[in-house]
This record gives sequence, C-alpha cells and structure tokens, in this order.
Amino acid sequence: MAFLSSKTGQFTYFSLQLSESDWSRKYVLDFGGNIGNMLRDPSSTIDEERYWCIDVVEESIKSGKAAFPKAHWIFYHRYCFFFNPHGAPRLKLPELDQQFDYIVAYSVFTNTSRADMFDLVYQLRNRLSAGGALAFTFIDPHYRSWLPSRYDGNNLRWRLEREIFLEKEKGNTLAIDVDGLIERAHDATWFVLVNGEDLYLESEATKTYEPEQQRTYHTFYSVAYMQSLFPEATILPPVNDEMQHCCVIRN
Ligand SMILES: C[S@@+](CC[C@H](N)C(=O)[O-])C[C@H]1O[C@@H](n2cnc3c(N)ncnc32)[C@H](O)[C@@H]1O
Repeated sequence: MAFLSSKTGQFTYFSLQLSESDWSRKYVLDFGGNIGNMLRDPSSTIDEERYWCIDVVEESIKSGKAAFPKAHWIFYHRYCFFFNPHGAPRLKLPELDQQFDYIVAYSVFTNTSRADMFDLVYQLRNRLSAGGALAFTFIDPHYRSWLPSRYDGNNLRWRLEREIFLEKEKGNTLAIDVDGLIERAHDATWFVLVNGEDLYLESEATKTYEPEQQRTYHTFYSVAYMQSLFPEATILPPVNDEMQHCCVIRN
C-alpha cells in the first residue's frame, strides 16, 4: 500500500524554525513532501504556483497534483526502503529549471540511509538561491521531547513503543526488548533501526531485506553528531510540540 502522509503542522514547524511566516513570493521545494502537507497547513502562506514537491511515492504525487494543480509535482523513482523499494538506488535528482528560496524536508532523512542523506543534501544545496535556506529534520534518539508528566521517555523509546503499537494494529506482535534496545543504543552517536527490531549501531551495513520484508527504516542522530556532519549548519531544537530537531543550512 502506497504511503500517503496524514501529518499536519509542517508549515508552522518550518516557519518557526526559519523565523519567517510570510512565504508569499518565495520559491519553495518540499523535498519528500508526499501529498503536499506544507500547502495544506491552514497557516501556510506559500503561493501554490511557487511550490514544488518531489517524492518517491508516485501515488502521493498524483494525489497532490489533483488537489493543487497549479503547483509542481515530480515523481522521483529513486530507491527508498519501504517507500519505494523498487526504485533505482542513488538516482540523481531530477533536473529543475528553478532555484529555491526555501528547500524543506520534513521527516525524510529520518527514513533514509546516512549515505543517501549526504548525497541528497549535497545535491539540494546546489538548488538554493543566493540567500536561500535548506532545512531538514532529524531525530535525536537520546532527547526527551516532552515533560515527564506527558511522556516519560526519550525519542528512541517513543519510536519503539510506536512500532509495537503499529504492528498490534495490524494484528501482529512485535516481540522486542524495549529497555534492552535502549541500553544498547545508549552511547551511540547515530544508528539505524530496521522494522522496529534490528538495531545497527553507527553503521548502515544492514542485512538484505526483500521488498515484502521492508516495513520501517529509521535513522537517528545525536545533535552533536549531526553538527559534526554539517559544521556550517545551525541545529535547532524541536518546535510546535514536535520531536524532530531541525538542521538549517543557509546559502
Ligand atoms: C515520513 S514521510 C514525510 C512526508 C512529508 N514530508 C510530510 O511531512 O507529510 C517521508 C517522505 O519522504 C519521502 N522520501 C523518502 N526518500 C525520498 C527521496 N530520496 N526523495 C524524495 N522523497 C523521499 C517518502 O516517500 C515520504 O513521502
């Protein structure tokens, strides 16, 4: 089943992170934008005709185009675990006759390999206008996003419990040792969690998962590690009651 995102609040999130609420007249690329939730956000000030969305889920692009025909919708047939398991690995970004004031990616590099993140960030930076900004989210596994009275655990615990819940909804049991996995990841600066159960610490040399075995792929980075990867970036804490940090690279 194709993934269509029902997440809301992305415009509010990035307008806070970039300290700019008036995006009218700005050229915006929503990388991994799925059905275009940036445009659907009630507080969005983006001009439909200045909005581009690139995604590896063809159905999401079709759905976005039907709702916002004046915007620009591009299917990118690149491999991505679960989202597009039959795509071409490391396919180059499509050519675009446009440079962008803002390039945003909400919860995209949280689901790709670290190598893909490097490759794509490098290519996306070249699409920025002078003075433009690339902003993408990431999840620090050790960070506690909420007060203990609301949720008493770090982001990794939240993800593991979510994976158990999602499998239960499908009638399956995910028999994982949540405390044990958290303990194993305790000192890791980054790691990959595949299918909610296989943990690869500071490595993305995962075993082979056939397309039908590909359920979820989550990459986590500590704030310090992300800063070491992109020393020129500004790393911002979550806003808008969310759990994702933001990495902002200005041109
Ligand atoms: C968790 S969803 C978030 C969707 C959207 N940003 C939102 O907030 O509603 C991750 C999205 O990234 C897309 N994606 C993953 N890898 C991608 C890539 N290499 N290029 C473009 N989109 C990608 C997926 O297809 C999916 O739509």
